[in-house]
Order: sequence, then structure tokens, then C-alpha cells
Amino acid sequence: MKYKMDLVSPAVFIGKQGKGVISFGSGQPDLPPPKEAIQGIDIRKDLRYGLIQGEYPLREALSNEYPNSTADNFVITNGASEALDLIFRAWGKGKVLLPKPYYYSYLPLVEMAGMEPVFTDLVEGRIDIDDFKKKIKGCKAVLINSPSNPTGRVELIETLKEIEKITAKLGVYVISDEVYKDLIYERENYHIKGGHVITVNSFSKTYAMCGVRVGYLWSSDKKVVDDVIELKTHTSMNTNLVGQDMALRAMAVPKKYVIDQKEIWRKRRDRIYNGFCELGFDLWRPEGAFYIFPKCRNAREFLATLFLKYKVIFYLGEWFGAPDRIRLSYALDEAQIDKGLECIKAAMKKVRCL
Ligand SMILES: Cc1ncc(COP(=O)(O)O)c(C=O)c1O
Repeated sequence: MKYKMDLVSPAVFIGKQGKGVISFGSGQPDLPPPKEAIQGIDIRKDLRYGLIQGEYPLREALSNEYPNSTADNFVITNGASEALDLIFRAWGKGKVLLPKPYYYSYLPLVEMAGMEPVFTDLVEGRIDIDDFKKKIKGCKAVLINSPSNPTGRVELIETLKEIEKITAKLGVYVISDEVYKDLIYERENYHIKGGHVITVNSFSKTYAMCGVRVGYLWSSDKKVVDDVIELKTHTSMNTNLVGQDMALRAMAVPKKYVIDQKEIWRKRRDRIYNGFCELGFDLWRPEGAFYIFPKCRNAREFLATLFLKYKVIFYLGEWFGAPDRIRLSYALDEAQIDKGLECIKAAMKKVRCL
């Protein structure tokens, strides 16, 4: 029997949980946020309108993490998602270079803003600097994401430095989506910098606070910051104040919280990577974030079978610009990962996916 589903976008699965569902879908950390982020919050003082740019104490705390910065360089947003949306819509025209495969929201965000996407194909999941140099000409901006969702790859430091240099010379903006910067298994993060860089980050992943919706952008370009604030004034207005309080408290927790979490992710990474290798899939070993991106034939049928028969969710590579792959998040405990792997093994007998 064939299983069929209308698999238009990840919206079918985002937020689905419970009732025996094993979700390798959403990139939502299941680990608890730091307890300090929740303790002592006074909701009554957060029932007013706040500053559109974001509350000063949070921006000031962030400025200590970015060399030569002040609170004026930040806008606090509803997650990294809103930061990206506002940046593109504030521009509203021009070309944006997207390394492909890309995070599934990048293309709609660029197109909905009225901008034109240009693609550079990743080679083995990493930016091909020769192709990058050809495609970047004439672009207003490039959007990079290292560690990457969906590939789990981390760009080489020399590539990031070269991108920094080439774009500065050409006067092209680099939007650096660093939501996984604290989740690199192999080395420290290299923070790409310069007057032409706009950094986007979030409290969703590092502090396991996705649903609270707090992120931000950093830029030393006053016009970028002012234009984003103007647009936000007429759209979402301030980012929710309870969430900003939580984010500020989360920033104060000892770094041990982040280090301990990374070790949990590393064990899960090994578990799922080894499991998929044993099943015969062709995939990269993740170097950061919490995703695997194996090659897969008949991905739609495989997904429909796994969901409708086994209640197992993953995402289609086609949503990320890679129809020959599937994407799985390993934001699950090891027992769930093992259970999911058993279901995948069973479904492989029904659908030819290798
Ligand atoms: C690469 C990337 N950027 C941005 C986001 C959105 O994050 P936020 O929850 O901060 O909006 C995600 C979420 O999965 C992501 O993977």
C-alpha cells in the first residue's frame, strides 16, 4: 500500500508532538532552558509597550559580546526569523546570494521582500569560493549560515575570512546567520566581522527558548539599524518584554550551561550519524548544529510512509533546495533516536530510499 500526503512545506509538521509522535522535524531543542531564565520574572512590569529597538539592558549585555559595540548596534527581534525578514523588507530590492541548500525560510523571505535570489551551489556542503566570487558580483547581499541548517557543516575559517574580504572590497553586505554559533563540535566559532556585516542571532537554540521568540541583529551601519527600527515600528512593534527579561537572565548563566549542552548534542550526533551509516545512507558527519542531511530516493513516499504508519516525522530536502536529500533534526533524547531508527529501518523495507 502506498501512503500519500500533501507535503507542501514544513508547516504541516511544525509544533506537532505527543501521541507517540517521534519528530526529527523541527529544530527545537528539547533540553531545558537555564532555570535562571525563568526565576524571578515579574510579568506585571512587562505588560506595557517597550522600546521598538529592544530593552536597553539586553542590548547593553549583548554589546559586551561584540567587540567595539554599543547598545545602539542592536535591534531585538521576534527570533532570528524577524530579523531576517526586516532586513530584506527594509531593502525591498536588489539581488541576494544564497548558498544552496539553504534554510527553508531564506528563499521565501528574500522573494516576499521583492528581492531577487541568486544561488551558489555548495560543494560537499560547503561554499565553493570560486563560484562564490563569480556569483557575488552585482549582489546587494549574501546570506551565510555556519554551522548550517540543513547540512550540519561548518565553513572553513579561511573561507569565512575570504568572504569577509571579497564582500568588503565589493561593498556587498554579508548577513551572517549565527543561530548555531554555540553548537560547533570541532572548533571555536569564527565571528565574521566588518562595517558591511549584519549578524543575526537568537536565544532559540543556545538557550532552548524557541517559543519565547527572542533574537536580534547586530550592525555598525546606522542606516541598517534605523531602517529596521522604522519597519518594526509599523509591524510587530516591540519584541515581547517577558522574553527579553528571560533572554537577559539567560545571558548571565555560567558558560558551563552551554558547554554541558554541547556534550549532550555531541552524543546524539554520534548516535544518529552511526545509525544512519549502519542503515546504508550516504551523509555528512555533522560538525555543528543538530541536523543530518542524508541522500534519499523517493523522499516524499518515504516521509508519507514513516509519518502515516509509524508517526515519525522528518523534513524533505526539497524544502531546502535539495530534492535528493532528507533532513532530520536530532533534538530528541537517545532513546527516541533509537526508536526512530527502528521505524526508519522498518520503512526501508517498504520504500526504496537508498
Ligand atoms: C538557520 C536558521 N536561522 C534562523 C532560524 C529561526 O530561528 P528563530 O527561532 O530565532 O526565529 C532557524 C530555526 O530553525 C534556523 O535554523
